[in-house]
Amino acid sequence: MLHFDPQTRTLDLDPRNPAFFQDPYPVYEQIRAQSPVFYWQQYGFWCFMNHEDVSALLRDRRFGRQITHIASKAELGMAEVPEHVRPFYEVDDRALLQLEPPAHTRLRLLINRAFVSRQVERLRPRVARLAHELIDAFPRHEVDLLTAFATPLPATIIAEFMGVPREAVPDLLNWSHRMVAMYQFGRTRDVEDAAVKATLDFSEFLRRLLAQKRKHPGDDLIQVLTTAAPDGEKLTEDELIGTCILLLNAGHEASVHALCNGLNAALGAGLDPAQLCTDAASAEAFVEETLRYDAPLHLFDRYVLEDLEFQGIRLKKGDKIGLMLGAANRDPARFVQADRFNPLRTPNPHVSFGAGIHFCIGAPLALLEMQVAFKILFERHPKLRLSKQPVYRNSYHFHGLEALHLAL
Ligand code: HEM
Repeated sequence: MLHFDPQTRTLDLDPRNPAFFQDPYPVYEQIRAQSPVFYWQQYGFWCFMNHEDVSALLRDRRFGRQITHIASKAELGMAEVPEHVRPFYEVDDRALLQLEPPAHTRLRLLINRAFVSRQVERLRPRVARLAHELIDAFPRHEVDLLTAFATPLPATIIAEFMGVPREAVPDLLNWSHRMVAMYQFGRTRDVEDAAVKATLDFSEFLRRLLAQKRKHPGDDLIQVLTTAAPDGEKLTEDELIGTCILLLNAGHEASVHALCNGLNAALGAGLDPAQLCTDAASAEAFVEETLRYDAPLHLFDRYVLEDLEFQGIRLKKGDKIGLMLGAANRDPARFVQADRFNPLRTPNPHVSFGAGIHFCIGAPLALLEMQVAFKILFERHPKLRLSKQPVYRNSYHFHGLEALHLAL
């Protein structure tokens, strides 16, 4: 499946190879045994998979999501964004995740007002009510957890939290899936055209919603974002739209798969749902372990912001590097019995939410949703088990299942 050249430390592995994306972990160990720092030919950049390196790189300000201090990409011999995908990048490049300080600091402070744990904690009863409502609607004997529970739960919560009507959730899911397909390896022109159309439709929807909210202000996150911070700072309309799209997309894409991957891992390890998440502390530890053991996001990249050397590799300004979160979470140098699912593992310094200035702003919300959802699911269906062997989708770095069929 893979070829590794030890001389140049080059990995030849197509991330669309089913044997790889169905179970990347044994492959990670094979690569780690050769060299945990390697050049991945298909992506065209150096990758790092050890926990120590990934943690350090996420925090190292000589690497960033955007190449700062250049007039144009051409200066570094990089291609400009092609015209036909420009509308997508006009929104994407303005989003928090793609910015670096000082623009990042300003935007993150404005958004953070709404995402602090104390605000998010207020959602706990709503998440519980919704979890019960979705479980009430399960068929009698068997259910696909992905469609009946894991998708609508975080998508509805983030929509309501932001102040987007619940009826819009199917559209949000549709736009989001098309937009995140842009980050996949080997995307086609059809994928690009669909993402551009989704970006334009999503932006138009939000523009209309913002106009309505100006007339009839509500008590929601969009309202918080439209209001100036104490120092008078305010988002422009374009920033507001980019931010809303990022929050609405990021607010469910990873959580959906974190829930399904996590349950699949626990049941696959032979654990008894009746014994899991029985109190707050065990629910917290269980959720962290699901995120470590089978993270929904496996690969993030960074630009090199100045010429430098890291782990003996010379990197030039404008180069990209790959940070392998899923592999770092299984590093035997950091985790005892890294390949074992241990529902009570503490401490659990996984990197599934990243680290440093881009650390997931939605982590408190994702953790709360997962703790509440698993606890209620296990209480209501203590005998649930897998009824079909699940398969992963062909989208390596968005590591998630096609479906999760359970017998109740
Ligand atoms: C289990 C679920 C989730 C996982 C595994 C996850 C993972 C991540 C990771 C790894 C990053 C950092 C990316 C990087 O450093 O390049 C990130 C950033 C981010 N996440 Fe999440 N996320 C989850 C849920 C959420 C939710 C629920 C929201 C919002 C409501 C959210 C919003 C964001 C935003 C806005 C950023 C960018 C932060 C910044 O650049 O400062 N995420 N997430």
